[in-house]
Amino acid sequence: MSNTPDVLVVGGGIIGLVTAWRAARRGLATALVDPAPGGGAAQVAAGMLAAVTELHYGEETLLALNLESARRYPGFVAELTEASGRDLGYRRCGTLAVALDADDRAHLRELHALQQRCGLDAQWLPGRECRRLEPMLAPGVRGGLRVDGDHQIDPRRLAAALVTACERAGVVFHRVRAERLDVVRDRAVGVTAADGTALTAGQVVLAGGSLSGRLAGVPREVVPPVRPVKGQVLRLAVPERHAPFLSRTVRAVVRGGQVYLVPRENGELVVGATSEELGWDTTVTAGGVYELLRDAHELVPGITELPLTETRAGLRPGSPDNAPLLGPSGLDGLLLATGHHRNGVLLTPVTGDVMGQLLAGGPLPEEARPFTPGRFGAPRTQQLEQTA
Ligand code: GLY
Repeated sequence: MSNTPDVLVVGGGIIGLVTAWRAARRGLATALVDPAPGGGAAQVAAGMLAAVTELHYGEETLLALNLESARRYPGFVAELTEASGRDLGYRRCGTLAVALDADDRAHLRELHALQQRCGLDAQWLPGRECRRLEPMLAPGVRGGLRVDGDHQIDPRRLAAALVTACERAGVVFHRVRAERLDVVRDRAVGVTAADGTALTAGQVVLAGGSLSGRLAGVPREVVPPVRPVKGQVLRLAVPERHAPFLSRTVRAVVRGGQVYLVPRENGELVVGATSEELGWDTTVTAGGVYELLRDAHELVPGITELPLTETRAGLRPGSPDNAPLLGPSGLDGLLLATGHHRNGVLLTPVTGDVMGQLLAGGPLPEEARPFTPGRFGAPRTQQLEQTA
């Protein structure tokens, strides 16, 4: 690679990595800057690929992108497994979303009606059928939604595989923090790293997860409106004598909060997640752990028998409409791939495809059109200045 690559990706989480991998596979000389590639929110995420069970009112546009990425997952996994030589922990296990009381049941019934209106595949089951599928469920379960198409992947394995695939595709890693975007004559030309090195590139992609709004030097009007949304997550181990503890992802809304249990084939059981607007705080709190265990215990009482192996908090990159920002930023030479909020793992394949196509000079793919950063317009302060 010459000193100036075609593409410089700022951020080595799964979104930055998949962007770099796809760019390199298209023949672009690609570099990535991050002090610890493969880290970030993927180290905490449970890895649910839950386009249908995580559907929310008002997010039907996002649903289309989520479904498209879910559809691409099997091919993406096959390609990345081949390219990296690593197992990704992809499990086509399905999901069961259950109700524990009359309020939860009404909530789930509404979700089911919305899913049906959107033409999605979800089957309502009475409580006894839920327990037949998952015998560890609490006897009081009042019914549930069986969604066989909502699967899971191990995000830590996904991140590690993307690092390897990038290395094999010739992506150059700069293991240092990007401090400032460098702009010359209204065009992004690279970044200055924390050690003072100037890293130049033909195009820069800002894929910094929840940190994406904090890179110095980005003109105010193109700073992505992302914010950190804290999630606390637990990991437990299912000993051989308890296996299979659960055979699919089990989730519920308990007292208004989401709780989910994601069983991996290797015996790990991931329990998540809180959703807290606390800025940059990543403290694991007694209250967070208590709430997750209390709610998970109501759902699956036997969970208290299992060893608790890890507690951790991460930061989702929240955006104003919970959907990602993909594509041109408004500043020449700078593209964005950020703001994936609850769906970063699910949206990894489609994000890689969209960004790869754009970086190679192609048109913005149809599926990405609703998600360009321009949808949020210029910041209000700038609009006021313009009209003054
Ligand atoms: N998608 C799961 C979460 O963000 O907690």
